[in-house]
Amino acid sequence: MNEQRTTFGSRLGIILATVGSAVGLGNIWRFPYMLGTNGGAAFLLVYIICILLLGFPVMITEFFIGRHTHKNAAGAFQLMAPGTKWSVVGYNGILAAFFISGFYYVIAGWTLEYIFTSATTSLEGKTVMDFSDEFTLFSSGIVRPIICAFLFICTTHYIVSSGVKNGIERASKILMPLLFLILVVLCVRSLTLSGASEGLRFLFQPDFGKINSSAVLSAMGQAFFSLSIGMGCMITYGSYFGQKTNMQSTALQVTLLDTLIALLAGIMIFPAVFHFGIEPTAGPELVFITLPNIFGQLSFSNVWAVIFFILLAVAALTSTISLHEVATAYIHEEYHVSRKKATLCVSLGVSVFCILSSLSFGVLKETTIFGLTFFELLDYVTAKIMLPGGGMLICIYVGNRVDKKILKTELTNQGSIPFYFFRAYCFFIKYIAPIAIGAIFLNELNFFTWIQSLL
Ligand code: TRP
Repeated sequence: MNEQRTTFGSRLGIILATVGSAVGLGNIWRFPYMLGTNGGAAFLLVYIICILLLGFPVMITEFFIGRHTHKNAAGAFQLMAPGTKWSVVGYNGILAAFFISGFYYVIAGWTLEYIFTSATTSLEGKTVMDFSDEFTLFSSGIVRPIICAFLFICTTHYIVSSGVKNGIERASKILMPLLFLILVVLCVRSLTLSGASEGLRFLFQPDFGKINSSAVLSAMGQAFFSLSIGMGCMITYGSYFGQKTNMQSTALQVTLLDTLIALLAGIMIFPAVFHFGIEPTAGPELVFITLPNIFGQLSFSNVWAVIFFILLAVAALTSTISLHEVATAYIHEEYHVSRKKATLCVSLGVSVFCILSSLSFGVLKETTIFGLTFFELLDYVTAKIMLPGGGMLICIYVGNRVDKKILKTELTNQGSIPFYFFRAYCFFIKYIAPIAIGAIFLNELNFFTWIQSLL
């Protein structure tokens, strides 16, 4: 393409946009619910190991591919390995973007509903049962949740169609630090509830008996999901980095901030879960039932609730923008259609998935594939298979096929910044990450139990 590719405007813009992609519903909605259904502290431990051993190196590797090629996820592999099957990694990513969006917008839509209801009805005097019933009534409905998801798609569509610099960067600069502040306030409120210590024990005192193959797979999937890696999102964002961007420190900052926000979300949710007697295993509704109860304990409960859900919606928005951008950049660049048309294709495609996954909380609840509802299926296939699988292939490709000199030159900005652990990094992406991800897959398929039974 002759057209000059846009880049992010400033250093701060790069960090904010990338953090904006990583921090979202994955941290505040999905992390507590995964932790709750997978036994608590032991899950947290495996999660943190996955973030450090797999997440961080994979993120650097994606940045490398993006900035080295200045291409979208699929175009990058076509450029680096033309005529080979490696492009499959890119296509896997584009498909994952559609699938993830297919359920992500539904949850993002829920945050909008909670903004409206918190602004219009009183939270005081309601019991846990009331909140739970209200949630079920809303989420199992047909029209309201779909309209909410659709509003979210339209907002994302509008921002993405106006281009990288004006859209993504400006949106990311607003309100992210505020989200952090309000999380801290809510953590303090939750920690001062009676019975908070039980929640903290659940979060921080591991019971290794609860660790099984599916908990390990869930923790790995959550790490990939939360960091937005494994599907080319960070390749796409890396392609907008300038030549001076320090990709090592960007990856480190994004990883640490993302993990910090997830931990804060855990500290906000679990003391309250135990205080109010909510089941930690409640699933996707966990956060939506627990939060209104915490707000109910504060004076000006509605004001807190409205502010919080607005900030959560913004965090979700900076993530949906990145998901949308992966598919839009691909269609725009590879099929040579205008950015506006590409954006429209993605929005329309995603809408169809969203309608189905929203209905799977109500009328399509009993319609299952492999025992999973449509929503659960999209979530399972992406977080537990496509993202770690993509991450594994990205590591194998860069670890084995890319000249180490090129890798080092790119990651050190032509030698102008140091990379102290370069050899360790290469070892990680060549051996540790692919083997660990492969082993977790095989373990889930009971491969090792099967081998044991043969011995
Ligand atoms: N990481 C985001 C979150 O935690 C979700 C997300 C945005 C994502 N882009 C992604 C997940 C790309 C996987 C891949 O909410």
